[in-house]
Amino acid sequence: METPILQVTDLIKQYRQSDSIITAVNRANFSVYRGEFVAITGTSGSGKSTFLQLCAGLMRPNSGSIQILGKDITRLSPDELALFRGQYIGMIFQKHNLIPQLTAKENIEIPALMMNKAPVSYEHSFAKLVDILKIKDRLNHLPSELSGGQQQRVAIARALMNRPQILFADEPTGSLDRASADEVLALLIKMQKELQQTLIMVTHDDSIAQKADRVFYMENGFLAQVKHPS
Ligand SMILES: Nc1ncnc2c1ncn2[C@@H]1O[C@H](COP(=O)(O)OP(=O)(O)OP(=O)(O)O)[C@@H](O)[C@H]1O
Ligand SMILES: [Mg+2]
Repeated sequence: METPILQVTDLIKQYRQSDSIITAVNRANFSVYRGEFVAITGTSGSGKSTFLQLCAGLMRPNSGSIQILGKDITRLSPDELALFRGQYIGMIFQKHNLIPQLTAKENIEIPALMMNKAPVSYEHSFAKLVDILKIKDRLNHLPSELSGGQQQRVAIARALMNRPQILFADEPTGSLDRASADEVLALLIKMQKELQQTLIMVTHDDSIAQKADRVFYMENGFLAQVKHPS
């Protein structure tokens, strides 16, 4: 059988708040295969963002393992982890986090520059990305000169710039109106299909979750699969 691209085993994350302890992720087990679109739903405060940030290497768990492409990222040093994330992991947040002083193009190029890539090495993938995401004619504008949907599409292009093996998205359409949200989502799914991009998305939106290959539900730190492949 195929090895999962991401395999989470017995993952626990606790937060300490004065004298109480919150178990935000409680013994989570989770496997994702290459090219899948997996959605994670659940009530507010159930641990979804914490779980996603752990998987993306943005936070360390208390215990458990997170294997990505066969490597346990919980065992990497901070430097190794930063490099690993730059090479293999993309992340999109609810709010786009674009750098306001940089143009759309410059924002998208950041991950490539951080990996010391020469422009000639990413020209082709850059052109393809901005074409699929329909932002070709907005590249020289600042984020403040773009609509919310365009800003989020720039953030998606930036997240995909280094062709990450796994793309994590935490409510990527949460701050958009319905029409922009639908458009951004359709583009994300198109990317997932056309680039065989593995996509793991946290969403409150049932209509989005229905489009996923598999759906997980989180409650009080516990994670369970609720929709299986048809
Ligand atoms: N930095 C932190 N310090 C302490 N507690 C935290 C921290 N971040 C999150 N929590 C707590 O951990 C639990 C899970 O939070 P998390 O943000 O992962 O939930 P969520 O499912 O993403 O919620 P939402 O749908 O509202 O975004 C909550 O009880 C939250 O209050
Ligand atoms: Mg959240």
